[in-house]
Amino acid sequence: MGARNTYQILAFLPCILLFGVMSTTSLEVGYYTKCAKTCPQAEIIVKAVVHKYIAMDPGFGAGVIRMFFHDCFVRGCDASVLLDPSPQNPNPEKLSVVNNPSLRGFEVIDEAKETLERVCPGVVSCADIIAFAARDASYFLGGISYEIPSGRLDGRVSIADEVLKSLPAPFQNLTVVNALFAAQGLSTDDVVALSGAHSIGRSHCSSFTTRLYPTIDPTMDQGFGSFLRTKCPQNANEDGVVPQDFVTPEQLDNQYYQNVADLKGLFFSDWSLLTSGETLNLLNDFRTKPELFAAKFGESMVKMGDIGGTQGEIRKTCRAVNYNY
Ligand code: HEM
Repeated sequence: MGARNTYQILAFLPCILLFGVMSTTSLEVGYYTKCAKTCPQAEIIVKAVVHKYIAMDPGFGAGVIRMFFHDCFVRGCDASVLLDPSPQNPNPEKLSVVNNPSLRGFEVIDEAKETLERVCPGVVSCADIIAFAARDASYFLGGISYEIPSGRLDGRVSIADEVLKSLPAPFQNLTVVNALFAAQGLSTDDVVALSGAHSIGRSHCSSFTTRLYPTIDPTMDQGFGSFLRTKCPQNANEDGVVPQDFVTPEQLDNQYYQNVADLKGLFFSDWSLLTSGETLNLLNDFRTKPELFAAKFGESMVKMGDIGGTQGEIRKTCRAVNYNY
């Protein structure tokens, strides 16, 4: 009996450790269902919130998928991208030009977190909520289904200056993009698969107008370039937006690869997938085999979700650390 109690305590040790500042070793599928008193409904709750927002506007789905990428590439998947500016930290990642004002979907995460805090307070990390939301958005927008391990912790550090150094920019070439992915333990195959996310959502004109003016970039289809000029006039007062994929703008599908092959990707970085034999081959595979793309996209999302910090906490609200120094 005594021994059984010891085993039971050992089995629940990860649950007991869920309080205060903690460290994790590895993530596991169904993490919140494993401890009797944690939060078996966690993933169901996030899914319902994501569904509600995507039904209002599929752009929320694109937003949380991009948010997952931007979170994971800077200090690991630790929800550092969610922290608001505070007197202690006036310049968090959220304020970097890479994220502000284009990153969206914060209200999806807030609502999921508020609901979860009512049902099982102090248990589910904001970092896991982003990972679940991105997984659910992939399902609702693309029918792409994969299991995502969880058990991430929320970080306490968020620095705007680190964002530009870690995330690729739309004007960068394949060598640079590959190097930035490799720095996170991701391969060239992951670059090609994850870039497929550019089959949904939008881009601000400012992210690609250097390809339109003063002349249309020769690496872009000239007719497409002329069309984009009508959507993004030079010296416009406002930074307009266009869909990433004009053919199936709200579907996470393999249309992106056709667009890139047709020189109709918005970014130079999209075009650059055509510049090596390895990426070109994979691009053609994904372009012609939608189910292969779907499988590899899910795999690469899981891999990206494994980029990690090991120290942190479960925030009470996703926008602030639990206490300030
Ligand atoms: C390979 C390097 C990448 C570059 C250079 C890049 C760059 C960009 C840029 C400049 C935008 C437009 C932002 C705006 O102006 O509003 C964008 C949008 C987007 N990106 Fe990427 N990205 C890359 C990879 C990824 C990856 C790996 C993902 C996720 C798996 C992703 C998901 C998205 C999504 C979903 C949008 C649309 C966001 C929305 O509608 O709110 N991107 N990306």
